[in-house]
Amino acid sequence: MAEDSLTLRSGAGGEPVGGNFWNEVGGRPTFEKLVRRFYEGIEADEVLRPMYPDDDMEGAVQRLTGFLEQYWGGPTTYSQERGHPRLRMRHMPFKVNPDARDRWLKHMRVAVDELGLSPLHEGMLWGYLERAAHAMVNTFEE
Ligand code: HEM
Repeated sequence: MAEDSLTLRSGAGGEPVGGNFWNEVGGRPTFEKLVRRFYEGIEADEVLRPMYPDDDMEGAVQRLTGFLEQYWGGPTTYSQERGHPRLRMRHMPFKVNPDARDRWLKHMRVAVDELGLSPLHEGMLWGYLERAAHAMVNTFEE
C-alpha cells in the first residue's frame, strides 16, 4: 500500500491530516513506542540480536520507525533518507528462516499489544506485520 493511497488530506505544509491510519493511531509517538518496545524484545533474543548492529541500535530503531510511519501514511522521511525500501533485498544478508520470522513476530506481538489500539486498527496493523514477516523469509535452512 503506497502512503498516498492513505493520505486523504494534507495540511499547509503538505503533512497528512486526518483520515489516515498514521494519524488515527497517534502519529509518531505511537510508532516510536511500538518499535522501541519491539527492540527490547530483540535485545534479549539470542537468535535475532546478533543480526542487528552492535553499536547502532538507535539507527535501527529510527529506520524501522520511519519505514512503518511512511507505510501507514505518515511522513516520507524514510525514503528521503534510505531510498526505495526494497525490504526483501535489504534482508538478504540475514538468515530469515521460519524460526527467525516467528521470533520477530513474537516481539512485535508484545509491542502491538502494549499500544492498546482499537480492535480495527490492531487488526489492520497485525495483519500487515504478519504478512510482511512471512514475505521476508529467505531460507528454510535451520
Ligand atoms: C521476519 C523476520 C525479520 C528479521 C529477522 C529482520 C531483521 C532485520 C535486520 C537484522 C535488520 C538490520 C537492522 C538495521 O540496521 O536497520 C533489518 C532492517 C529492517 N527491517 Fe527487518 N527483519 C524482519 C522482518 C521485517 C519486516 C516484516 C519488516 C517490515 C514490516 C522489516 C522492516 C525492516 C526495515 C524497514 C529495516 C531497515 C532497512 C534499511 O533501511 O536499511 N523487517 N531487519
